[in-house]
Amino acid sequence: MNESIPEPVGLPLLGNALSIGRDPFGFVEDAVADHGPVFRVSVPGLSFVCYAEPSLVERVLVTERDRYEKDPRERNLLGPLLGAGLLTARGETWERGRKQVQPAFYPGRLRAYGEVMLERTDGFVQRWSDGQRVDAYEWARGLTLSIVGSVVFGVDGVEEMRTISRAADAITGRFEPLSVTLEVPLWVPTPANRRYRRAVDDLDGVIADLLDRRRASPGSGDDLCATLLAAADDGAMSDEQVRDHLLTMLLAGHETTAIALTCAMALLATHPDEQARVLEEVREPETVDAGTALPRTDRVIRETLRLYPPTYLLFRQAIADDEVAGYEIPAGTRICLPQWGIHRDERLFDAPRSFRPDRWLDPDAYPDFAYFPFGGGPRACIGRRFALLELRLALATILRTVSLEATPETEWSPTPALTSRPDGPVWVRVRS
Ligand code: HEM
Repeated sequence: MNESIPEPVGLPLLGNALSIGRDPFGFVEDAVADHGPVFRVSVPGLSFVCYAEPSLVERVLVTERDRYEKDPRERNLLGPLLGAGLLTARGETWERGRKQVQPAFYPGRLRAYGEVMLERTDGFVQRWSDGQRVDAYEWARGLTLSIVGSVVFGVDGVEEMRTISRAADAITGRFEPLSVTLEVPLWVPTPANRRYRRAVDDLDGVIADLLDRRRASPGSGDDLCATLLAAADDGAMSDEQVRDHLLTMLLAGHETTAIALTCAMALLATHPDEQARVLEEVREPETVDAGTALPRTDRVIRETLRLYPPTYLLFRQAIADDEVAGYEIPAGTRICLPQWGIHRDERLFDAPRSFRPDRWLDPDAYPDFAYFPFGGGPRACIGRRFALLELRLALATILRTVSLEATPETEWSPTPALTSRPDGPVWVRVRS
């Protein structure tokens, strides 16, 4: 324990728990502004050191990454569910898995996924009528789940999609709020645990059927499932590992992207001037596909992910002693990289709470790792390009068909769960 690391004022025993409980995101912003580059945060049972400076983020994720590993809490939490999937795997299992999964994200494949993204978004947009009030969050979750379900699993059937959707909800529900339910072991038959168990069983059933079907008609698709099945049939992967990868992609791929899409829709609805410029850009070309350059739309997405990073805090644990900013960090220290606070640090970004897509006209104006919504280094998000393409094509398809208006309820607060999902519906009105 290094007592000289500054710590936001807290209470005996409770540490910073009360301030975090009251306004977790505001707490992170204030702590980064007042105490950076290194400070300690304590809550009952847990103390961690935040590295709130771009060069220190780079140190952990890239230059000195051998001194840090992913936080074991994440594996304890998600490992029983996701096993050998990339989020929770370590060491050689992770390295092999990442190489096996990577081809599914090559640029050539992304073009084909782009077709699915366009077609799905179009179908979802067609459900709207002029003047309708839409919960952007619910809509975006349905859309991203449908896209990831199709691209990752090759699933189109309504019933299967429903099972996947119900299961994804029950699984995410078990991890929110982060504190209480996790203390109850899975074998205790609480309603949430029963729902979760049933959801995992249902999902395993869908995946087993899917693998049988795909094996029965080889060559039926060029998606992640096909990539993994080829590895399994070569003996390079077990069926259980295939299942772990599929489930990981489903869970890592839909909620994060849905949050970003929701926030982008709400930000455009509340910033009509910005929206007008994007609208002009996306309506100009006769058609839009994965190859269409839409720089203004891309800047909106970039700025959305700065203001509302869906993963908001990244956690690691030091596995070797380190020294940062003059402080000794002993092995075993839990480390937090506060994306949310760094992205809103006024030493790095002018008017950091303002939505200003044009600040990205020159992305090189900012130091490396002042902005890292997808993490960095070897464990960076494997779905980064996929997500950015999906967000671009979804926004373009939406704004080629309708414009978005704010309503008095177009307000939301992020929830401090596994992701910073909105705390309720995010209402926008659509106008055709
Ligand atoms: C806007 C959307 C997304 C955001 C903000 C996001 C963010 C992240 C971040 C920050 C990490 C690294 C976590 C860490 O270092 O502790 C990560 C990892 C990962 N993401 Fe994403 N992600 C997004 C979309 C996706 C999509 C669409 C997929 C898959 C289709 C995906 C799959 C994964 C996987 C498998 C990992 C683990 C990679 C590894 O450890 O090798 N993500 N994501």
